[in-house]
Amino acid sequence: MPITKAIVLCAGEGTRLRPLTSLSPKHLMPVAGKPLLDWILVDLAAAGIKQVGLVVGHYSEAIKEYVGEGSHWGLTATYLTQEQPQGLAHAVNTAREFVGQESFVVYLGDTVVEPDLTELLDRFEQQQANAAVWVKEVDDPRRYGVVEMQQDTVVQLVEKPADPPSNLAIVGIYAFTPHIFQAIDHIKPSARGEYEITDAIQWLLDNEGGVIAHRLEGFWEDAGYPEDLLLVNRFYLDRCELTVQGLVDESSKIEGMVGVGSDTRISASTVIGPSIIGDQCVIEHCSLGPYVCVQAGCHIAHTTLSNCIVQENCEIRDLTVGLVDSVVGRDVEIVGGGRRGEPLSMIVGDMSRIRNL
Ligand code: DAU
Repeated sequence: MPITKAIVLCAGEGTRLRPLTSLSPKHLMPVAGKPLLDWILVDLAAAGIKQVGLVVGHYSEAIKEYVGEGSHWGLTATYLTQEQPQGLAHAVNTAREFVGQESFVVYLGDTVVEPDLTELLDRFEQQQANAAVWVKEVDDPRRYGVVEMQQDTVVQLVEKPADPPSNLAIVGIYAFTPHIFQAIDHIKPSARGEYEITDAIQWLLDNEGGVIAHRLEGFWEDAGYPEDLLLVNRFYLDRCELTVQGLVDESSKIEGMVGVGSDTRISASTVIGPSIIGDQCVIEHCSLGPYVCVQAGCHIAHTTLSNCIVQENCEIRDLTVGLVDSVVGRDVEIVGGGRRGEPLSMIVGDMSRIRNL
């Protein structure tokens, strides 16, 4: 029977993304013009998922307000509350009733992968597995769950090992039968005090078998740090089809694939694609791009930006040295930026005020 249920883990405080997550949830951070969570819901719907359970805790209201009943994506959304982020297995356990007796997908809410989810689901179904994980070779696997394999057989899974048995990291997308709940009942908190899904999968391997790992080819990013958001922004911008809706005056130049939102006015500026300027922005005397994503309601004047994400309702003026490799939160004001020197690089939390740098 095809899998039609998924849970997306969106609790957790996103501490590694601070200060960006001090006032906003990590899962709604914009990349290429849309919140991270939007890209995930699109991927799930394309793979045939109909019902999605969103595990929420911190900032649950913002996530509920954004996703609503899920109909925008052709999904039915259910909200599952995890009071404290006590680990991925603990989060999955909140979905027991929602899942019932069906197989299901678990998608970590900060995960971006290039291949279609159906690739993993097809393997899971063909092999009639109890658990399927996607794995990818990484240079330093110590910040991930790690899988040890002999030929195509999984022999061990270990979470964030100091001495990794292989360089195959677990990607944050899984498929399970309900047997995983039995495994979750048997595990204890790890040394860092969390109920690890990796330990539950190891229990399944030891007691029931049917654990498979499928190698992921192509892009994968776990958007844990601000630099990862910029990588994900680039990944999606390279794949976007964009259109110009707002007004671009005759003295401005648009090069490459650029999106300009409605009620946006661009004057005396150059925008190099791939880049997106959202709705209701005013851009004057600027050089923007490549890989710039400006969210709605921003006013940017006499400024140069490249490889940057600027969230809603920011004002950036006279930052003539420019910004590179930066993420700017919502409602930020940056005015003045020196006259000489290298461009600045900064991660700025929501509602910050920076003047005369
Ligand atoms: O990104 C892949 C890695 O994701 C895997 O290799 C690891 O095996 C897996 O444990 C996980 O590690 P992270 O340390 O990256 O997980 P993180 O704490 O960032 O949580 C991932 C998502 O799950 C994030 O969107 C927040 C959510 N979450 C997390 C916890 C701990 C919850 O909803 N509840 C929780 O209790």
